[in-house]
Amino acid sequence: MVILKTVREIAAMREAGRISSGALREAGKAVEPGVSTLEIDTIVRKYIENQGATPSFLGYGGYPASACISVNNVVIHGIPSARQKLKSGDIVSIDIGACLNGYHGDNAFTFACGDISPEAKALIDATQQALYEGIKRAVAGNRIGDIGNAVQKYVEARSYSVVRDFVGHGVGAKLHEDPSVPNYGTPGRGVRLMPGMTIAIEPMVNQGDHRVRVLDDDWTTVTVDGSLSAHFEHTVAITSSGPVILTLPDEVKL
Ligand code: MF3
Ligand code: CO
Repeated sequence: MVILKTVREIAAMREAGRISSGALREAGKAVEPGVSTLEIDTIVRKYIENQGATPSFLGYGGYPASACISVNNVVIHGIPSARQKLKSGDIVSIDIGACLNGYHGDNAFTFACGDISPEAKALIDATQQALYEGIKRAVAGNRIGDIGNAVQKYVEARSYSVVRDFVGHGVGAKLHEDPSVPNYGTPGRGVRLMPGMTIAIEPMVNQGDHRVRVLDDDWTTVTVDGSLSAHFEHTVAITSSGPVILTLPDEVKL
């Protein structure tokens, strides 16, 4: 069941999104060779708690950290660890949720650590732009398939592939709500978008093929072919005046 939000609820989600995006910005500043992913997780948790919010992911389904930090061939749900030190050339996907006054903001960004290859940079740029292609279609009257199709077309035109086993989602008082928001699809298909819907659009894009595998820790999700993967995410409200990104430091309309 899709839960529509009032203008006041969207304003509350905007505050949560401000915090999750602030935490993501702080996490990105900490990405450099030699830093452990656990150190970045600690920065994230402290930032969120200092803002009077709580990390949405900590304890969610048993998840043991505040951020997911997924390096290189890790697609999503990388668990921060003191043993994992970043090195120059890594691409580092960081996914963060913050909950404030009962509402969640959920966002992700793939950062470069030191000097990365032109191929890695191109993958990151394409994934970020694919997110914005999806957001542009998050318009009342469109359908979920219009978003997924826009993401998929943009990605596949560049010979990358979109992950299918994990998808975006509604977000609000719960981190995961209906509807599912796949990064693939058919225009004109799926749930119709209405003002008051709040969704997390989150393309996960592989350099190689789309297949992924979950490791024995039940979280870490890697590409089957070992290729690099990037991930960007925003929480977006569908309003009568178009899509509004809630996970930004300042109010921005597309
Ligand atoms: N942004 C991701 C998602 O929406 C992260 C969830 S990680 C979890 O699924 F630990 F909270 F599960
Ligand atoms: Co999400």
